[in-house]
This record gives sequence, C-alpha cells and structure tokens, in this order.
Amino acid sequence: MNIGKPNGGRAVFGSRFAAIATTVGSAVGLGNIWRFPYEAGVHGGGAFLICYLAFALMVGVPVLIAEFIMGRGTRSNVLGAYRKLDPAHPWYWAGYLGIVASMLILGFYAVVAGWTLEYCLESLFGMLDFSSEEAGHSQFMMLTSGWRPVIWTIIFSLCNFAILMRGVTKGIERLSNILMPLLFILLVIFCVHSLFLPGFTEGINFLFRPDFSKITPSTLLGALGQAFFSLSLGVGCMMTYASYFSDKTRLGQTALTTMILDSLVAILSGVIIFPAVFSYGLSPTAGPTLVFEVLPNIFYRMTAGGIWSTLFFLLLFLASLTSTLSMSEISISFLSEEKKMGRKTATSISCGLTLLLSLLCALSMGPWKDLSIFGMNFFNLFDYVASNILMPIGGMVCSIFTGWWIDRRFIKSELTDPGTRRFIWLKPLIFFLRWICPAAIFIVFLDSSGLLPR
Ligand code: PHE
Repeated sequence: MNIGKPNGGRAVFGSRFAAIATTVGSAVGLGNIWRFPYEAGVHGGGAFLICYLAFALMVGVPVLIAEFIMGRGTRSNVLGAYRKLDPAHPWYWAGYLGIVASMLILGFYAVVAGWTLEYCLESLFGMLDFSSEEAGHSQFMMLTSGWRPVIWTIIFSLCNFAILMRGVTKGIERLSNILMPLLFILLVIFCVHSLFLPGFTEGINFLFRPDFSKITPSTLLGALGQAFFSLSLGVGCMMTYASYFSDKTRLGQTALTTMILDSLVAILSGVIIFPAVFSYGLSPTAGPTLVFEVLPNIFYRMTAGGIWSTLFFLLLFLASLTSTLSMSEISISFLSEEKKMGRKTATSISCGLTLLLSLLCALSMGPWKDLSIFGMNFFNLFDYVASNILMPIGGMVCSIFTGWWIDRRFIKSELTDPGTRRFIWLKPLIFFLRWICPAAIFIVFLDSSGLLPR
C-alpha cells in the first residue's frame, strides 16, 4: 500500500537530525519542566516516577511509532491519515478528538507559557526582586493573580500566532535546535547547584526512592496522562509531524530517542526542584504553582540570580513555543487540507478559537478564581480532561487501529524503508499495539473510575 506519496507539495524535513529535533522540540516543553515536578509532587515522588517511566516506555514508545507510521505512511493530517487508511469506517473521529484535545491543551498551556515570558522580561529589566525568599514568593503570587495572567496569556498567544502567520516556524525550529542544548546545559548547572542544598538527600530520596504503597489509581492515571502529555501523544501531533518526515527517517530510532531525551529533561527538572522544595520548607504537593514558587528561591541564592533567571525563562519560553507551534499545526493542517482553507485563514481560525479557551483558563487563575466545574477551575479541568482522558483515548484508538486494522505489510514497509533495512522489533511492536497498550490504558481507566475490586 502506498498512500499519498510523494509528498504532493507538502513540506519535508531535510535531514534525519531535523526529524528528531522537531519531535523533541514538540515533546520537550512545560510538560517536562513545569508539569512533571508538580505531578510527581502530588502523586508521591518516586512511585510516580517509576510508573511514568514504565508507561513512557511500554505505552508511549509503541504509540509514538504507530503515530509515525500513520503520519509518514499517509502524508496527511490526523483526520486524513485515518481516512486514507480506512475510508469505509468512521475511525477519523479519533482525529476530531485529537483536535479538540490539542485546543484544550493550548488553552492552559498558553497561560503557563505567559508566566515564563513575564518572568523572563521582568528579570531582564531587573524588576524581579531576588532580595529574599519571601520577596520571590509574594512576587509570584502577584504575577499570577488578577488580570496579569490574562494579559500575558494574550501576549504569548500573539507570539504563537505571529510566528505561524509569517510561516517562520522553520526559523524558530532552527533557533531551538541551537538553544535546546543550552537549556539542557543550564538544567545540568542547576542540578549541580542542587547538590549543595541542605535538602538534597531528602529531595533525591523523594524522587528516586519509590514507596510502592503510594501507588494509587490516581497515581497510575496521573503517570499515564503525564506520559502522553510529555510525549505529545494521542492528539495527532506526532502524526502530523511525521507526515513531514523524509523517507529516510528511521521511525523506531526517532521514537526511542525522543522518549529518552524527553524523560531525561523531566528527571533533571525533578532533581532541581525537589531538593529545593525540602531545603526551603515548601510542600511538594503545591500543584501547578510549584515550580514557579520554588525557582525564585533557587535564583535568590545563586550569584547573579537575575541573569540565570532571565536565561532560564527565555529558554523555557522558547521550549514552550516549539510545543505550542506543534499543537497548532494539528488543527491548521486539518483545516487547510481537509477543509481546503488557505493556510492563513486556517491559522487565524485555529489561533482565534484557542485564544478564547486560553482566556477562560487565564481568568480562572485571576478574577474567576472561585468558579468551579466538577470541583476544578477551567485551567485544571482542561488539563485533566485533555491529558488524563482524551490523550489516552486517542492513543488507545491509534494503537488498536495500527495493531489490528492496518495491513501488516504497510507497517513493515514504513519501518524498514521498503524492505531495505531490518527492523527486528516488528513482532513485539505489533504485540504491544494489539494487547499491551490498549489493555494498560483500559485498566488504568477502569481502576481510576473505581470499578476494579480492591
Ligand atoms: N509535550 C509537550 C510538553 O511536554 C506538550 C504537548 C502536548 C505538545 C500535546 C504537543 C501536543 O510540553
């Protein structure tokens, strides 16, 4: 089966490196540096880390490969990929689900990315006060309350929109290829700094010593959601990116490299945050504000804290931007390919809709603080629904579709550069896609809905 090739006028990533760099660019973002530590903090540290790594390897990597196969094999947006592979059945609904999920994610993501931008500019102009721990804390409280989140969310969304409109995503990607290694180096430097904190041992024990009695259904659901969120899975993002891969890209290798680098960044972030949490007497269970409350304490103690802070938030802002660009690409490629819109119209519609969702989230941090739906504000609700429900469902559908539905020869040909290379993992991969991934996701769902006997 040779569907939709060659790449009828669509972009193709030039090299193998470009494919890895862009998928890592999408995967590495706030999910690793902001979301991972707070989820790990809420769900018991080490136990969460183990579950997260197990899901990333056993569910994440196979689903990532499945998305790659579907994307590159069809050279289509998420809806088109399902439709080309099986025009007779309504599998393409999974594509709609992915588009909705990606918009919800963008909704709350833009708020947090707005904080990073605000922090970056404030520290650049010396307006962040690092004179004491309390100053850092109250500053964060001020920056994230009232109308400020709304303003910074709009500013961030406009940056995302402007880049997409001007079609300079390539430039941003190139820039991030240079800057992401820098972010990595900075994280390593902060880790070394952690070594000298009084709470180092306690923090490290919290993160790396699993207390298995802490594994509850919500730990499992949280870890599964984090694996999907961090690897940008289940929404068609990786599928869309893979549709721009060249024929030479090695799908299995790219998937594994992405997962390893992505998890490494998350772990580094944990090594920075938790020793600081315990050193400064903070609580690891603070939730979404954790990282932003802890970091000022770290910068306060470093010589030239303002410079470190500017650099760090600048890199985090860029990392968020490469992730939001990839999220927007899902709906933009859908609108322009399936609905035959011009790219600019598609971009405006997609960004306009997500801005509305972001505003709901930003307001729920400030003026609408007390508004709650199912016990959560918009921000937490969007995160929960997208990461813990829609993404795993999207991943499950993709896994079942690839494992059971698609012609095995098609899968083999995608993984072996039509028969020119060996791919020894084909049988285990199919086995995982058919059984392990759907079953794991299903059991975690069942478990967290309280239907499993205990
Ligand atoms: N993986 C990104 C992160 O960790 C978030 C993301 C989710 C990006 C879904 C694209 C699609 O920040």
